[in-house]
Amino acid sequence: MDVRRIRADEWRVWRDARLRMLREEAAYFSTRYEDVVREPETVWQTWTAEAAEGVDKVLFVAEDGGATLGVVGGFRRLDPTEVQLVSLWVDPTARGRGVARSLIQAVAAWARDRGAMNVVLFVQEANAPGRALYLRAGFRATGAREPVGPGRPGFKLVVSATVDELLADVS
Ligand SMILES: CC(C)(COP(=O)(O)OP(=O)(O)OC[C@H]1O[C@@H](n2cnc3c(N)ncnc32)[C@H](O)[C@@H]1OP(=O)(O)O)[C@@H](O)C(=O)NCCC(=O)NCCS
Repeated sequence: MDVRRIRADEWRVWRDARLRMLREEAAYFSTRYEDVVREPETVWQTWTAEAAEGVDKVLFVAEDGGATLGVVGGFRRLDPTEVQLVSLWVDPTARGRGVARSLIQAVAAWARDRGAMNVVLFVQEANAPGRALYLRAGFRATGAREPVGPGRPGFKLVVSATVDELLADVS
């Protein structure tokens, strides 16, 4: 398995993964599939090009033999010491093999390179697998939580870790 930054010309890889996660795991994401499926290609192209530059946002792809195993995004928050991790998803056939852990560490390494000290993210209270993953990866609940979104039941929890904690077992 290889984890690498997305290239600017790979906007279809990002779009396909993003639409799949929102369609197949709708309960675990705040963004709704219906709201993004009709986005024009330029929106995906712009996002991917900016992520490929890797200045304020980033996208990583985990792949094996050309097949996409998973993706994750990150962006710098207004507070420059913080990077927010978003859109973590692993193909169901590739789960349980450490793909998500590798993607989280890729974001943490990027955050460190950009001068950030903490990685924060939202995980829905109802997402038991996601919460278990983040706990195992080194995140802790901050105690903050927000409603998932207008017309959506439930809450999302804010969890946080230092880049040092996330990269502790990376040589
Ligand atoms: C949550 C998700 C990203 C996990 O991906 P994954 O590649 O299977 O996770 P990993 O194999 O890297 O697991 C890393 C650790 O988390 C734990 N973990 C992962 N999935 C788990 C689950 N379903 N239940 C309990 N623990 C789990 C593993 O035990 C592992 O710990 P270990 O290394 O000590 O054994 C994946 O199931 C997914 O894409 N879910 C749907 C989308 C989603 O919920 N994304 C997060 C939105 S906030």
